[in-house]
Amino acid sequence: MNIKVYVPRDATALSLGAGRVAAAIDREAQRRGLRVQLIRNGSRGLFWLEPLIEVATAEGRHAYGPVTVQDVPGLFDAGFLDGKAHPLHLGLTEEIKELKSQQRLTFARVGIIDPVSVDDYVAHGGYAGLKRALTLSPGEIVDAVTQSGLRGRGGAAFPTGIKWKTVLDQPPQQKYVTCNADEGDSGTFADRMLMEGDPLMLIEGMTIAGIAVGATQGYIYLRAEYPHAHRALIEAIAAARASGYLGSNILGSGKQFELDVRLGAGAYICGEETSMLESLEGKRGEVRVRPPLPAIKGLFGRPTIVNNVISLASVPVILAKGADFYKDFGTGKSRGTIPLQLAGNVKHGGLFERAFGLTLRELIYDYGVGSASGREIRAVQVGGPLGAYIPASQFDTAIDYEALSAIGALLGHGGVVVFDDTVDMAGMARYAMEFCAKESCGKCTPCRIGSTRGVELMDRVLANVDRERNLQLVEELCDTMLHGSLCGLGGMTPFPVQSALKYFPEDFRKTVQ
Ligand SMILES: Cc1cc2nc3c(=O)[nH]c(=O)nc-3n(C[C@H](O)[C@H](O)[C@H](O)COP(=O)(O)O)c2cc1C
Ligand code: SF4
Repeated sequence: MNIKVYVPRDATALSLGAGRVAAAIDREAQRRGLRVQLIRNGSRGLFWLEPLIEVATAEGRHAYGPVTVQDVPGLFDAGFLDGKAHPLHLGLTEEIKELKSQQRLTFARVGIIDPVSVDDYVAHGGYAGLKRALTLSPGEIVDAVTQSGLRGRGGAAFPTGIKWKTVLDQPPQQKYVTCNADEGDSGTFADRMLMEGDPLMLIEGMTIAGIAVGATQGYIYLRAEYPHAHRALIEAIAAARASGYLGSNILGSGKQFELDVRLGAGAYICGEETSMLESLEGKRGEVRVRPPLPAIKGLFGRPTIVNNVISLASVPVILAKGADFYKDFGTGKSRGTIPLQLAGNVKHGGLFERAFGLTLRELIYDYGVGSASGREIRAVQVGGPLGAYIPASQFDTAIDYEALSAIGALLGHGGVVVFDDTVDMAGMARYAMEFCAKESCGKCTPCRIGSTRGVELMDRVLANVDRERNLQLVEELCDTMLHGSLCGLGGMTPFPVQSALKYFPEDFRKTVQ
């Protein structure tokens, strides 16, 4: 009988040598006349252990990591195929502390299954949500999503059920489901990992969305810098279609849904939903004036759902296990779980899915184990390049939408980037303005002109030219951008700037050498 060995095909694991390790295991097994079946799974998200390889044994999967090509012969010698001891042996995978303490709903199968095998997906509970959806009316599906309390994971945290209801309520016509997989926020990779590790969950979620609102065509707008996710999606869509889960007669129900992938145009603003729609239509990614909302007049002027990857991938479990099951996770108005992505100057970076409500401190120290440099952590930036900088004094804040908003921060897509005490916060404030100036679509003045003026002002502050007056102007400019911008790029650039000014004023008043 073949022994199953799992080596991730995830981009992070590949960048750390997983492809070479897989080839070495294959070669070594052949040399020794052993029958090994290599399965290329997703990553478990514990990046400091990648490449993390696993072996299926009678008692469960044993993990070894981080494995290099040089380690492979020694692993065979030690009997890793039977889960035997070795310096890289981590024990049973499911017992690894940082995995065991997670509450994985969206990432429940990531790292466990072969990402592009429909059989493996179904064997692990996949497509139970779609099967249930096919027994419900469109209104009942939308109600379940509303009842679950799911809010968009792309950044704005808008209730997904309400968005779907708006599309459902539009008169019958060509409607669309679009998935925002542009994932432009710094330090975020949940969408990528989900698409590489369990693409069928996204495909299932989009199919349910289509059936719920009467849309027969879906598009995944995928950032072009994700070639591995692209490959996994193409393979998984083909597999779903071949098995009757996509197409003109889904599982013999007479319902129709088709799905295609479109590659992004490589600009941060293309992640903003109306720019994304412009880009999907083949135009320059420029923000549209709202109203009309995309739910009423979206892609090609038709009613369109725009949802993030994680929002859509949360739907199958809501349908399969019920809205109450999902709603039981979380706190306050933040229901369910959130895949948190920990990056930057941190010892143990990775993805950790937990119910809303754990604190930043738990994430940074229990999972992240402190800074990679060994120095004191001074700040984290939560929610991407437009997120606020949060000082160490606020690390006991709970990770939920309202608690973060109460301290002037936002959760965004769940990315947390760590900085130690060598960070220069005035430099980071300048960087926020520079980022906005580079990425601005140019449609409105506060962002297009304001960000460039912001860089100039910050340069004067840093050079100690009329410093207090220029700091005052920075504050006023932030106020204008916050209230006068057409979209979140110009409208949220003030968050990192203002938080840096508020919590780290001393960095703006350093003596110039
Ligand atoms: C400048 C800017 C960039 C954005 N980038 C993304 C992105 O990369 N991915 C994403 O899902 N949402 C992004 N958003 C949010 C989208 O506009 C939109 O709110 C989201 O796709 C809706 O899906 P959700 O309700 O499922 O979160 C961005 C917003 C702004 C203002
Ligand atoms: S805020 Fe910036 S990115 Fe958004 S519409 Fe205005 S110019 Fe374009």
